[in-house]
Amino acid sequence: MTQDTPLTTHDSDEDVRNRDIKIYVNGDIVHRDDAKVSVYDSGFMLGDGMWEGMRLYDGVWAFFDEHMDRLFNSCKAVSLDVGMDKAGILDALTQTAKANGMTTDVHCRLMLTRGVKVKPFQHPSLSRTGPTLVIIMEHSKPVDGLHKKGIRLATVPQVRGLPMSQDAKYNSHSKLNCVVACLQAEQAGADEGLMLDPHGFVNTTNACNFFIVRRGEVWTSTGDYCMNGVTRQKVIDLCRANGIPVFEKNYSLYEAYGADEAFLTGTFGAQTPVAEIDGKPIGTGDRPVMAKIQAIYKQLIQENTASPASH
Ligand SMILES: Cc1ncc(COP(=O)(O)O)c(C=O)c1O
Repeated sequence: MTQDTPLTTHDSDEDVRNRDIKIYVNGDIVHRDDAKVSVYDSGFMLGDGMWEGMRLYDGVWAFFDEHMDRLFNSCKAVSLDVGMDKAGILDALTQTAKANGMTTDVHCRLMLTRGVKVKPFQHPSLSRTGPTLVIIMEHSKPVDGLHKKGIRLATVPQVRGLPMSQDAKYNSHSKLNCVVACLQAEQAGADEGLMLDPHGFVNTTNACNFFIVRRGEVWTSTGDYCMNGVTRQKVIDLCRANGIPVFEKNYSLYEAYGADEAFLTGTFGAQTPVAEIDGKPIGTGDRPVMAKIQAIYKQLIQENTASPASH
């Protein structure tokens, strides 16, 4: 990486083993060079599909039930028949992990689309093959530097939409809203975009959920316009259980710029510190509240992945 290359919240150490991973495509597990879907696939053609990012710890998928709840809820909402139950998905994940000899420090992108269309048009009834399920698993460890240095955010013109346009809770294949926000941040010289809601309150980033710490309190948006992140909810629950005051509320850039700490949450990076927003350094660089949350989150992952339910 050169000095000018922006950091992303999903930077991981280069791992040569990923050059030869095997990918699950509708029941077949094949070398990545041979893993292909049709150009008529609803996901490719329209972004008509849902996905989940999950991590494997010592052979167990962390918060598997929560990820499946989100996936099945999203698919139900858009009448996308998953074609299997939760146990079927777990079996496909297990087969893929086994074929790759993977047990830990693994990130997976599980993608389900409405399947192959008979014609290159939008109508869902033209997707007649049943769903396409693809599982990509990579060896992945977030880079250390990210946690030391922190992410630079820029507020971007692209906003989160109202739920009646495209509800931000859909983890849909189409991420164009987020991609545009990310481009705008990059063009402003930052690593990721900080997105506002339609009323101008601070909402989320293009790829993660966003938190600030002010005078010992943890604040995040109301949740109305952002991804219902599994990590976001775990952080809120952990704060509540550990006596850290936490609020889901509207706040503006005024409060974000003046925060003592700011951090992002997501399955990949867990909690990632924010160094600056719009060129303004956040706090002094000491992050005691985030450090505490990181420690109790790590413990939660250990407990969750030790429970037989997600084996
Ligand atoms: C826009 C956006 N926000 C936040 C998240 C983080 O969600 P989670 O904590 O479930 O990984 C994601 C991950 O898919 C995302 O795409």
